[in-house]
Amino acid sequence: MNPAIAKLVRPHFRTMKGYVSAGMEAGKDATRVFMNANENPFELPGLEGFNRYPEPQPEALLQAYARRYGVNANQLVATRGADEAIAVLTKLFCEPGVDGVVICPPAFGMYKVNALAAPATAIEVPLLESNGVFSLDVSATIDAAKQPDCKLVFLCSPNNPTANSFALDDLHAICAGTLGESMVILDETYIDFALQQSMVSWLNEYPNLIVLRTLSKSYSMAGMRMGSLLNCDAEFVQLVRSKCLDAYPLTKTSIDAALLALSDELQAHVQANISTLRKERQRLTEALRNTDFITRVYPSDANFVLVALNCVAEFLAYAAQHNIVLRDFSQQALTPNCIRISVGTPAQNDQLIELLSTFRV
Ligand SMILES: Cc1ncc(COP(=O)(O)O)c(C=O)c1O
Repeated sequence: MNPAIAKLVRPHFRTMKGYVSAGMEAGKDATRVFMNANENPFELPGLEGFNRYPEPQPEALLQAYARRYGVNANQLVATRGADEAIAVLTKLFCEPGVDGVVICPPAFGMYKVNALAAPATAIEVPLLESNGVFSLDVSATIDAAKQPDCKLVFLCSPNNPTANSFALDDLHAICAGTLGESMVILDETYIDFALQQSMVSWLNEYPNLIVLRTLSKSYSMAGMRMGSLLNCDAEFVQLVRSKCLDAYPLTKTSIDAALLALSDELQAHVQANISTLRKERQRLTEALRNTDFITRVYPSDANFVLVALNCVAEFLAYAAQHNIVLRDFSQQALTPNCIRISVGTPAQNDQLIELLSTFRV
């Protein structure tokens, strides 16, 4: 394993043996009789195929992800959403009660929840805000990551909830500046909506970089819980697959659905939806900017927009009365007066835009 990674993995994960399931010992095929996994040999009508355990990391799925993301299949782990990847990485690198992770708030809440559950110290290096643009505090982030017990730096670009992408130069600087000291977990959950490019093509440059991807957003598959983590090192990837995941983490239904979502057949559809959401993001942004009670519309590279307004509670209540549910961020320290609006269909966005013109403070 690359030494920059090996030195950060909790030592027992390197030495312990992982679970070897019956399915790993002998992959299923149509020619043999499988009496090795205590499965029920009978299928129920209408539920054919569910009597057998699914493959833990199906080769066809890994190949399909690899093709879409431009990496080798041995450079990715299929997870139950990016959420599972966040949990697994925290467990793999952070010694409970000893280690810490860097988080750059305002940030996606699950980084901190997983740190607190470990428990690991959540070292917070807030984003800098200037003229309505949030950016990484690069030197403070690197300094925090270099603390002896700090193992992970969670970055998210485009960032939830601020919606913007961070400068690629800053992401490069943090990957380079923390090499051998910390792993950088770059959450690219929203990257397909972004004009900015992914860091996946830099994986081979930075062994400490782990990129998280998901089918939840751009592929419309949140209900299936399918994501992945990517790293250049096949040995590290194999360690995660064999020692950190549940025995059969992915359901047959979700594997089949992901294969369909990733297939050539549906790509035009996926791309058309992304393109519509980008256009709608622009339309929504303009309408929000033309609304006098909204004081700031933060630039978005994602499928949502963060806005600041004078009268959060009243507007949320007004939207709720009209059956539109928005997310309140006004109680969080670094996003006072803010709400987050997910971009909807053109008709749904019309409904929201209509409310902007009829709302009276
Ligand atoms: C930044 C970020 N990361 C990860 C996730 C979770 O993604 P998944 O549905 O793949 O678990 C979300 C969900 O909203 C998110 O906003």
